Amino acid sequence: MAKPEIKNINIDLEVYASEKDLDANDQLLLNKARTVAKNAYAPYSNFKVGAALLLDNGTIVSGNNQENAAYPSGLCAERTAVFYASAQYPSNKIKAIAVITDNAKQLEPVTPCGSCRQALAEYEIKFKEPIRVIMGSTSGKVFVVKSVESLLPLMFNQDHLK
Ligand code: THU
Repeated sequence: MAKPEIKNINIDLEVYASEKDLDANDQLLLNKARTVAKNAYAPYSNFKVGAALLLDNGTIVSGNNQENAAYPSGLCAERTAVFYASAQYPSNKIKAIAVITDNAKQLEPVTPCGSCRQALAEYEIKFKEPIRVIMGSTSGKVFVVKSVESLLPLMFNQDHLK
């Protein structure tokens, strides 16, 4: 039996101990996400998340998680924000997204769930441009990656759509 070729997939995860170590644009986006997290509707989880997107025209679009008594009908902050951005600014590239919670127990950065990674990756493919992801926490620790693709290697995609 032939041995398969083994491919290693690595990601460059930037780890910051403090938000103060981020560049000014990333700090601003994280602050917007933190502000909008307060408006989340999360009575079931008590975990309020905010997301803020920077578009190539300088516009910042934000969203938060919206829960529902029928649990699966709710939506994460990232998808609320990115779907709104695509609805309102369909031809503006998305440069970056910041995500954070105001939950005091969340000392590690909030990393987008799998469904949000897939949804965000769609716009990287659409615009042929990476989306920077800034992931904040209530301890000040921040993760940054330069693209959504790096958070979702081998994402679902259809070659016939390329
Ligand atoms: N949530 C987000 O808004 N974004 C994420 O990346 C992970 C989870 C929301 C979904 C739900 O309303 C709450 O956080 C708890 O899972």
